[in-house]
Amino acid sequence: MTQIAHLHEALDGQRLWDDVQSLASIGALEPRGIRRLALDEADNRARLWLAEQGAALGCRVHYDALGNLFLRREGQDASLAPLLIGSHMDSQPRAGAHDGALGVVAGLSILRTLSERGIAHRRPLEVVAWTNEEGARFAPGASGSSWFAGQREYEDILAALDGDGVRFGDALQECLTLLEDKGLEYRPAPFEPHAFLELHIEQGPILEQLGKPVGIVSGIQGVNWYRIEVEGMANHAGTTPRQARRDAFDGAHELVTALKAATSGQDDDLRFTIGTFSLWPDAVNTIAQRATFTIDLRHPRQAVLDDLDARFHALARRQWSGCDAHLTVTSRVAPVAFPDSLLEVLRESAGSVCPEVPELVSGAFHDAIHLAHVCPTAMLFTPCRAGISHHPDEHIEREDAEVAVRALAEAASRLLA
Ligand code: GLV
Ligand code: MN
Ligand code: MN
Ligand code: MN
Repeated sequence: MTQIAHLHEALDGQRLWDDVQSLASIGALEPRGIRRLALDEADNRARLWLAEQGAALGCRVHYDALGNLFLRREGQDASLAPLLIGSHMDSQPRAGAHDGALGVVAGLSILRTLSERGIAHRRPLEVVAWTNEEGARFAPGASGSSWFAGQREYEDILAALDGDGVRFGDALQECLTLLEDKGLEYRPAPFEPHAFLELHIEQGPILEQLGKPVGIVSGIQGVNWYRIEVEGMANHAGTTPRQARRDAFDGAHELVTALKAATSGQDDDLRFTIGTFSLWPDAVNTIAQRATFTIDLRHPRQAVLDDLDARFHALARRQWSGCDAHLTVTSRVAPVAFPDSLLEVLRESAGSVCPEVPELVSGAFHDAIHLAHVCPTAMLFTPCRAGISHHPDEHIEREDAEVAVRALAEAASRLLA
């Protein structure tokens, strides 16, 4: 019987890559990329695929009230809290195949190794796929993990609507019924894991520039989301004199300029993005009555986010080109620093498969940002080509992924033993 101490050496790299390809084929786009929007048909098929893999390995397969899926391999001491490893399988509308998926497949490959080699461990292991990390169909994202970690209310999550007016709660119900019909075990409530580990593609350029297959994530920056509506008055584009116009586009333009100016004194870590902008009634010859846009604001320090938050609210209280503005905070997630005790485990584990492993802060949010509130949590990154993600051209090298998964397996073996 192989020892848990040699887990990473026992991991089958070809099998890992086969699993990556199998999951990538679910919701595949032509000529490349994937589309698995949260709780859509492909996302649900991915759940069934994962459940099948787990069942074939002798795992108990559970799902909870948010459709989070767990593959459980028992330890010798069932009374111990499980080590949790995973990420998400939903995607952006035109995505690469590895954002989230790699972290789930990494956990699966560790389960495979344990099961196929008959490796015993003291602590139970659960591999998890969280529901709706992306927030692309139902905003905000990280629904499954934020609920599990007690960071968001169930009813609030269920009330979210997608672009077609479909309620999250209705899409979720379909998913839960599907999982029930497959005979999977319903375990409604969250529990307290021993620790959570998430491997993810970096989605940025640092590891590639350093030529490193794996990096340790020391924390995740905070992120605030805002929706801003500027309300003017629709009127005829050709006949309304300049002084009589209350053009919502003009108001939004002025306000955006002021919001951007408010961020200008900040350091290079600040991220300010207007990712959506729309006008209503959206006609070529009608002055806009309403302009609606969103802001994604990120920084590793809460004090910076708080300062800008106060300034944004103050600016939104003023009038812009004669229009009123209304600002709503749609999501607020504080930065987290992962605990040094778990980072130390990752340093030792990653150090055993790769020399001089760098440490970096995550610019993207991940399910780990919420899990960090309920148990010791940390992450590993592996590079993606040119830092491209949320795009069908997202690409990882098989050799890099293998090293990163071996580092994860090594960390798992230390926490499971
Ligand atoms: C999602 O991953 C994000 O960071 O926006
Ligand atoms: Mn992701
Ligand atoms: Mn993503
Ligand atoms: Mn993410």
